[in-house]
Parts: sequence; C-alpha cells; structure tokens
Amino acid sequence: MENFIYANPVKIIFGKDTIKEIVNEIPKGSKVLMTYGGGSIKNNGVYDQVVKALSAYEWYEFSGIEPNPHYETCMKAVALIKEKGIDFILSVGGGSVLDATKFIAAAVCFEGGDPWQILSKRSEVKKALPFGDIITLPATGSEMNAGAVITRAETQEKLAFGSPYTYPKFSVLDPTVTYSLPPRQIGNGVVDAFVHVMEQYLTYSESNALLQDHMAEAIVKTLVIEGPKALITPTDYDVRANLMWASTWALNGWISQGVPEDWATHMIGHEITAFYGLDHAQTLAIVLPGVMTVLKEQKGKKIIRLGKEVFGTDDIDDTIKAVEGFFEKMGVKTHLSDYGLDDEAIAKVSDRLAKRGWKLGECGNITADTVKEILTIRK
Ligand code: NZQ
Ligand code: ZN
Repeated sequence: MENFIYANPVKIIFGKDTIKEIVNEIPKGSKVLMTYGGGSIKNNGVYDQVVKALSAYEWYEFSGIEPNPHYETCMKAVALIKEKGIDFILSVGGGSVLDATKFIAAAVCFEGGDPWQILSKRSEVKKALPFGDIITLPATGSEMNAGAVITRAETQEKLAFGSPYTYPKFSVLDPTVTYSLPPRQIGNGVVDAFVHVMEQYLTYSESNALLQDHMAEAIVKTLVIEGPKALITPTDYDVRANLMWASTWALNGWISQGVPEDWATHMIGHEITAFYGLDHAQTLAIVLPGVMTVLKEQKGKKIIRLGKEVFGTDDIDDTIKAVEGFFEKMGVKTHLSDYGLDDEAIAKVSDRLAKRGWKLGECGNITADTVKEILTIRK
C-alpha cells in the first residue's frame, strides 16, 4: 500500500424526511441562492420542502442548470451572486447541479481573470463560497467529494477540476427523493457508480491494499444486487437507500487511498459527451468493456478477482461479458452504434486526445492509438 493523507470534511445527513435539517446547517442570517436544474424538483415535491425550510432566510433561486452543466450557464449564476450579495449556495438536484454549484462557488471568488482557467489551465482555487446540497440522483459521488466536471458549449470541451475548497459543507441524502427518477437515470446512476469503483480497483494488482479491495467489492456487489431491483420496484426504500449510500462511497475518496487509479474510461467518455452529448454513464458503458479487453494483460489479476467476487466466474472474458451484460440489464446500451456513432466519432475522440498529448490509465500507457483500438472494438 502506498502512503496517503486522507480527510473528507463533508457532513452527511441521511434518511427519510431530512431536507428540513438544512436550517441547522446553513448559518443564520445567510443570503442563500438555491441552484437547480430543469424542474424535476418541482414535480417531486423537493422544491416545496426546500422553500419551507428556507423560510427564515433571505433567499433567491437560479434554475436551468442543464445535464453536463455549461460554463456559460454557471457564469450567469456568478453574476447573480455578485449582484445580490449571496453568501451561501444550496444545490438541489443531481450531479450536474452540484458540479455547477462547485464551479460557481469557486468562480465567484476567483481573482486570476477568466474563471474558465480553473478548468483549462487548472489554475489554483484559493477560496470558494460555502455551499451545501440536497442530492436527488445517486450516481456521481459529487455529494461527498470536491470534484466537478464542466462543459464549455462554445468549444465542445468537458473538463474537470477539484479543490480542497469545493467540498460541500453538508449533503442531504434522502432516498425517497429518488423515487421519481426515470428508468434511464436509475440505470445511468448505477453504471456511473460501478465504473467509479472500477477506476480505483481494476488496475495492475501490486497495491496489496486488501481493505480497499474488499470495500470496492462490497460497493460493487451492492450495486449489482440492488440496481436491477430499483428498476422493478422503484419505491422500495431500502433498495434506494442502499444504492444511494453505495454511490456516495464509490467516489468519496476512501477506496482510492494508497492504490493506483486508472480514470481512462472517464477521460475518453468525457470527450464523447463533449462532441456528441451522450449521457455520462452511456459513454462509460461503451468504453469500460473496451478498456478491460485491450488492457486484459495489465489488469488481468484484478479482472479475475472481480469475476470471482462479484460475478461467480474466474474467466477474464466471461467477466468482461458479465460487466457488459450488467450495464445492458440496467438499460444502458454498450456500443457506439447503439447511439448512432461510428468511425467518425472514433477519429474525432482519438485525434483530440492526441492533440492534448494525454497518456491515460494507471500506467500512463493509453495513448491516442490505444484509444482508437479501444473504441474500434466497441463499434
Ligand atoms: O434537471 P432536472 O429537471 O433536475 O432533471 C435531472 C436531469 O434531467 C434528472 N433528475 C435528477 N434527479 C431527479 C431527476 N429526475 C427525476 N427525479 C429526480 N430525483 O436527471 C437528469 C440527469 O441529471 P444529472 O444531474 O445530469 O445526472 P448525474 O447526477 O448523473 O450527473 C452527471 C454529471 O456529473 C458529472 C458528469 O460528467 C455529468 O456532467 N460527474 C461528476 C463527478 C463528480 N463531481 O465527482 C464524477 C462523475 O464521474 C461525473 O463525471
Ligand atoms: Zn462518472
């Protein structure tokens, strides 16, 4: 196991009827901005609960944050915050609203020119407005990490950043708010969380970090057992609670301590979304089986371990098939052609990665040519 330093400051408020607890977390006298997306919170009762809970505060709202949130939209919220003198942001929605909120919080305080540089140049974030969230879609783990992914529509770029200042002060996880998720988003969430674990677990196997491995397997087993049930019985509380907590743990930093990390599937997937607008999890479902196949030798010991622990097989190819089958079972298609993409998409994505000069994966050996190979077998 490698050395590590780990701190996660996010306070989790978990369970039924917990939205009202935000009054104990947002400092009294704050001027609050509620951020949200396209309106799902108005249809499932979450908005009304938040309005009630905010009655003691002066508060404003900023809506219309889109999936794969845009830098351009975030900058409108930055202007509103400056105009109104907001000092606390409350994100109410999925990973997109929360990621946008993290960027907005950092951009408001950024003094180095255009805040896009936080993403394009990885300019240091030296402070951020405090924020908390009510997460409505278990998937990204954004509720218990400091990362965010933002898209610039104008240039079709999707880039990530993270900072010690962009951890939520608190996250409310009420599994009942996820009852209203459409099947597509249930599937997306489970696939995203599954792939988060793979990025931190399915690497070359020299880490000897047994506890992290067991934890990773526990999260994945939970997703494999409960995911399909959420599609069949969407209002089963325990199923939703297990999925919500498993998704949070998949990317709260815990299982990555002291071990190598991959993230190639995400980096390739982000480019597919940037160019073609696929849902984040759809891109992962296409790419991961390709990464596993092309890097079979490097990742072999871990693939076999995954097969034995989770899918009841000790064969590498059967494990890759089982992973693909699980994504399909969750309703997320796994080939480029399922989304109308072909050789043009493969060329565009691999050309951009060549231009960026990125070498991906836990060994830094996934070049643009490897990406072409990975995507070609996923046609
Ligand atoms: O916009 P509204 O109307 O709220 O509808 C949303 C949206 O259309 C809807 N939704 C959310 N909660 C709902 C609901 N509909 C009914 N009932 C509910 N309870 O679902 C749609 C998708 O929401 P979105 O927030 O985009 O999904 P998700 O949570 O999967 O977030 C995806 C974004 O997170 C980034 C992705 O790249 C993508 O931009 N990621 C963030 C990460 C992080 N911060 O750590 C890590 C991930 O790897 C990921 O990259
Ligand atoms: Zn993800």
